[in-house]
Formats: sequence, structure tokens, C-alpha cells
Amino acid sequence: MEFNILDADAQSNARAGLIKTDHGEIETPIFMPVGTAGSVKAVHQRELKDDIEAQIILGNTYHLYLRPGLDIIRAAGGLQRFNGWQGPILTDSGGYQVYSLSDTRKITEEGVHFKSHIDGSKHLFTPENVIDIQRAIGGDIIMAFDECTPYPCEYPYARNSLDMTHRWLKRCCDRFDQTPALYEYSQALFPIVQGSTYADLRKESAEVVASFERPGNAIGGLAVGEPAEMMYKMTDEVCQILPKNKPRYLMGVGTPANILESIALGIDMFDCVMPTRNARNGMLFTSEGIINIKNKKWQDDLSPIDENLGGYVSQSYSKAYLRHLIISKEILGAQIASIHNLSFYLWLVKEARRQIIGGSFASWKTAMVKKVSGRL
Ligand code: GUN
Repeated sequence: MEFNILDADAQSNARAGLIKTDHGEIETPIFMPVGTAGSVKAVHQRELKDDIEAQIILGNTYHLYLRPGLDIIRAAGGLQRFNGWQGPILTDSGGYQVYSLSDTRKITEEGVHFKSHIDGSKHLFTPENVIDIQRAIGGDIIMAFDECTPYPCEYPYARNSLDMTHRWLKRCCDRFDQTPALYEYSQALFPIVQGSTYADLRKESAEVVASFERPGNAIGGLAVGEPAEMMYKMTDEVCQILPKNKPRYLMGVGTPANILESIALGIDMFDCVMPTRNARNGMLFTSEGIINIKNKKWQDDLSPIDENLGGYVSQSYSKAYLRHLIISKEILGAQIASIHNLSFYLWLVKEARRQIIGGSFASWKTAMVKKVSGRL
């Protein structure tokens, strides 16, 4: 994997870059649609590529390992061959899902014992087997196994957890370096900075993570309920330590405003379920602000969902029609709303990139944050 910075903003730490993987290039800053179980919910692979213009999607180790399981993914020749998405894929390590989804879990030095949320069966994730599993799934970018601490988190717990995450990181890197890729393309391992909401722990973690000299680095344990200002402060501290010449990935973030503010701090990659999950509930993100399409005020509004986006779906369907579909619980409603919201997120990061290159990012960002956070 290669990363080149093409341009940097003079008034902030925002940068425009290009990641090269064996499955194609990724223009940064980028938003990665979440394809938990090998599918971005309600969205076809062709729509991801042609309508949304996604450049990389996410998959989850936890889900794919439990179902459909590794044998079939290996037999297919990796996740891309299995699901038909031909671009780059990043897999998360399960270091988050195991805490948020599994019924019972026990964290030990060895790893995390957990019960499947599907059938209650017992499993163990260790730093080593999580690397092996991600080798088998075959993501272009794979993530280290970490503990994502909750918010709030007492200092002693955060301290001990961070030390363990760092020991796990060493085990992940050793396993990664000792095992070959299973398919004909290469994989990159990203470590994850933790440290809860404590600046000293975050700085220490950023230094430890940087010392492993991997092709890219991630920041986890944020957007877990802490105030946005706290998230920005932690992100800022960490970005000042993580190497400039490697992509920085802020995990699980966030709202359109969160993304713009974090780009300004030096983040290059994002993922979040918000655009797809909220779409299914009728919450639309648009270039003019947030819409609850279920509101009666949209009942007679025949204007396009968002005229400012180039995409087919956002321009072709009216707010009134989408409202009717969502209220009637028609499957097409979830599809249109999901494609629209993802198109908006991809439009937003593309526009941010254009503004960084054009030298006008800072003022554009201030105006845009206000616009996209308002409710229509
Ligand atoms: N997704 C969102 N936050 C996190 C995190 O802290 N760790 C991992 N592995 N995935 C995440």
C-alpha cells in the first residue's frame, strides 16, 4: 500500500491524498460505507460503484467469521470474489463488535471469550487468530485487535486496558509479519490508538502505535458517547504525533459536521453506520441540512431529494415519493434513502478534497458545518 499527499491546507491540518491498493486507488479524505456482513445494507454493489462512487468499503471480522464463516470465503478466493465488490475493502478486527454485540464476553490477556449474538455459541478472539481470520477474509487493509473502552471510563481501567491493547498490538504485528497473504494481492495492517478521554494516554498510545511503523494508523475509542469537543481534542492530540506521511483513520465517525472538523485536524479516512442506519429510519443528510422525511411537511414536496448532488437517486426521486415509501415501509424506501445518504457522505468528502486542493477549505468548512448540521 502506498500513500501520497497531493496538497495540504494552509490554515488547518487538512490534507488531500491518494492511497494505492492492489484493488485500486482511494482519494482521501474518504468515507467508507459500512458493509458489516459483506453487504452495505440495502445497497447493490453496482450502485455502490456507479451511483455512490464509493472507493473502499468496510467489512466486519466478527460478523463474517460467525456467518457465513471462513471456509466459504476462502473457497471463493476472498471477500471481493465472494461479494462481487471489486474495489478495496477494509476489515475491522472485531475489537469493537465483540463489546457492542456479543451477549457475554470475558476479556483476558489471551484475548476475548464471547458468545455469538446469532446462536449463543462460544468463541475466543485472540490477537493471533483475528489476524488469521482477516488474512482469510482478505481485506486490503486489516485492523489490529484492540479493546475499545466505553465512555465514561475510569483512569485506572483506561490505563490497564491501553497497556493490554499495546501488548495485543505487538502480537498482531508479529503474527501478521509471520504469515503470508492468502490471495494474490497484499494486505496492510493498521494499528489502533486507544486511551479513552485522557490526553496523556492518547499521546502515549500515538507514540507506541507510530513506533510500529505500519503503512497507516487508526484512532479508536471515540464517538462512544463523549462530547464532540472531547473527541476533537483527543483527535487533535493524536494527529500531532501520528506520522504525517501515512493515512490516519478515525474509526466509527460520524456526523457530517464531525467528519469536516476531523478532516481539519488531519484525518484521512472515516466509517460510520449513521448514513445507512439513519436512512432506514427516514433521516436524510442533504447539502442543505438534515431532513426527517417522515414529517408531514414533506408530504406534498415534489422537489428532488437533493438537487446539489450529481447522483441519479438524489435527483430523480422527490421528497414526497420517498416519504410515501418510508411511511409505507416499502423496501425501495430504505434503498433510495441509503443510496442518497451515502451519496451525500461521498459528495461531502469529495468536496472537502476539492476545497483543500483549491486552497479554500477552512472558510468552506466553517460555512458547511453550519449548513449540514441544521434541520430543515
Ligand atoms: N470502530 C469504532 N471504534 C472502534 C474501536 O475503538 N476499535 C475498533 N476495532 N473498531 C472501532
